Formats: sequence, structure tokens, C-alpha cells
Amino acid sequence: MLILNKTAGVLKPSKRKVYGFLRSFNFHPGTLFLHKIVLGIETSCDDTAAAVVDETGNVLGEAIHSQTEVHLKTGGIIPPVAQQLHRENIQRIVQEALSASSISPSDLSAIATTIKPGLALSLGVGLSFSLQLVGQLKKPFIPIHHMEAHALTIRLTNKVEFPFLVLLISGGHCLLALVQGVSDFLLLGKSLDIAPGDMLDKVARRLSLIKHPECSTMSGGKAIEHLAKQGNRFHFDITPPLQRAKNCDFSFTGLQHLINKIIIQKEKEEGIEQGQILSSAADIAAAVQHTTACHIVKRTHRAILFCKQRDLLPQNNAVLVASGGVASNFYIRRALEILTNATQCTLLCPPPRLCTDNGIMIA
Ligand code: KG4
Ligand code: ZN
Repeated sequence: MLILNKTAGVLKPSKRKVYGFLRSFNFHPGTLFLHKIVLGIETSCDDTAAAVVDETGNVLGEAIHSQTEVHLKTGGIIPPVAQQLHRENIQRIVQEALSASSISPSDLSAIATTIKPGLALSLGVGLSFSLQLVGQLKKPFIPIHHMEAHALTIRLTNKVEFPFLVLLISGGHCLLALVQGVSDFLLLGKSLDIAPGDMLDKVARRLSLIKHPECSTMSGGKAIEHLAKQGNRFHFDITPPLQRAKNCDFSFTGLQHLINKIIIQKEKEEGIEQGQILSSAADIAAAVQHTTACHIVKRTHRAILFCKQRDLLPQNNAVLVASGGVASNFYIRRALEILTNATQCTLLCPPPRLCTDNGIMIA
């Protein structure tokens, strides 16, 4: 059962309750504003996350439980395992976010939860927990589209006017969209197959980077970024995907297969078995990171040109927001920065902890 708020008694409210009540007001001499405070819950993939945020964007409390380590060991996300881990952690995480905020559940204005897109089994845990809480507390429920939340997160940290371009690149997402309003999105391009983070995770697994002493606790993408710093991207000449496609779509499966072939070839040359670390692993990491960056930049360039030609974006100082786990990659960020400088645009990226899945973006 949900036991989120045990108050001390009717006549003598707890210190926390009084404090939470006071924090829910923003007092200015002569005026009294009641702040809306939202609890956000995210369980769409492999992070159980919750946050309490007020209507001005102040993060009052936050908690997250990452399943990355477990999924690294099993070689990828197994949905029933993710579901079980969400079940085991959701109550604690919500409780922690609320405790950190010092807000009593009864002072919440609403509960916002990711309802799509994502893994059905994972989404179900957050949704049923939230609906139980909504019923118990008699609060409004706000269904949240995970991608819209990613796209709008930048407005917590920067003053960004509509319209702006957003590039969402992570383990499960890959899209370019024009954000014209809070719920007004024009989809310009998406991956025709897998997302870039998924591709990087698969390459990292094939390279057995989990056995690499420097990368054993890192996600696949992070491990590739780390190793790429020690490698030479010019050792392999790889053409980015969809060179001739006259649209803003992406594709990463072909690149993954190509890298697989290179790995098989290198294993033969080095005389090692699959599962051992190649001496050329860093060069392969550098090549895959560089090709990924080139592909992402080329598709984004097309989107910028398309939007400017149709006056969908301002000619000067148009904003490109890059978010999602893969956007925390500094090599890819730098490549995007070169693009935005050349096209008189401004690149904005939420800080890495807000790029990946979190409860704040939902709240
Ligand atoms: O946004 P996110 O936390 O979860 C979703 O997929 O929604 O992104 C996780 C993905 C994983 O595929 C991970 O390998 C990738 O983002 N990633 C990175 C980096 N850090 C995480 N990819 C490239 N470079 C990184 N530094
Ligand atoms: Zn996400």
C-alpha cells in the first residue's frame, strides 16, 4: 500500500507539514501567491525517477534509481526485469523525492506521469502507482508524453522562446522536431530503424567493453566516448548513412552491421575470440563516434535549412536544442556546435543530468 504521508495528528501538524505548507507559498509584501507544485514520475525505460517541481521551475526534490548496472550485466534491457526493478523501487523513489522537497503529498497540486512512449511493462508500473496515488490523495493527474518532456526540459534552465528546433537522441529515441508550442510539435525526421544510443550500446557490447577496466560501469555510449579519446578515427574510413536521402531521417542499423564486420575482421587479424578486448577497440570507438556525429550533424543541417527556407525558424539566432542520453556526448555536442555556428543558430543542451531520463522533466 502507499504510505506516503503519516501526519502526526489533526491538532498538532508535523514540522514537515508546516514547512511544506509555508514553502507552497511565495510571499511578497502585499501579495500572496499559491504556487502550483507538481510531482513528476518517470518509468518509461530503465530509470525509476521522481521529482517535485514548482510552477516557476524550482526543483524542490528529486530522486532516481538507475537500472543501468543490472542491464549491463544481462547485455541489454529485459522488459520483465526492468518492470520488476521499477516495482521494487518506485515507492522509495517517490518517497525520497517528496522528503527532499519537504512537501507533504496533500500539498501537491497534481501528479504528472509518463504515459508514452516507452516499454509497456515499465510504463505500466509508473502509471498504476500514480493512479493509486491520485485516487488516494484526490489530486489531478497529468499524462505526459516522454518526448515532449525531453523537448521542453531546456525551458527549465534557459529562456527559450517558441519556435525552436529539437534533436532528441538517446537509447530509445531519435528525432528532429520543430517545437512551436508546449504541445505543438512538427516532426521533421526520425530513425528508420534503431536509435543512436541503442547502436552505440550494441557496438560496446560486441566490443565487450564491460570487461574493459576503465569502462565496466559505463553505459555503452559513455564507454564509446571514453575509449574514443584514446583512439584514431582515421584508422577506418566509414561513410555516414543516408548520404543521398533528401529528408531529415536517420538510420543506424547499417552502421552497426558495418562496425560488426570490422570487429570480426580485426578479431581474425589479431587472432582473438569474440569476448576478448581488441587492441584496436579505441580506434573502432573513435570511428563509430565520429560517423555517428557526422550523420547526426548532416540530418540536423537539413532540418535547419528546411525550417529557414520556409520561415519556420528565424533567420538569425534560431535555437537548436539537443537532448537525450547521446546528446551528453561531448564530441557530438562539439560537432553540433560547429554546425550551429556556421548557420547562425544557437545550440542549447540541458546539463547532462537533465539530458537523460529524469523525474524533473516530467514534473
Ligand atoms: O536518455 P537516456 O538516459 O535513456 C533513453 O534511452 O531514453 O539515454 C540512454 C542512452 C544509452 O543508449 C547510452 O548508451 C547513451 O544514451 N549515452 C551516451 C552517452 N551517455 C549515455 N551515448 C553517447 N555518449 C555518451 N556520453
Ligand atoms: Zn528518454
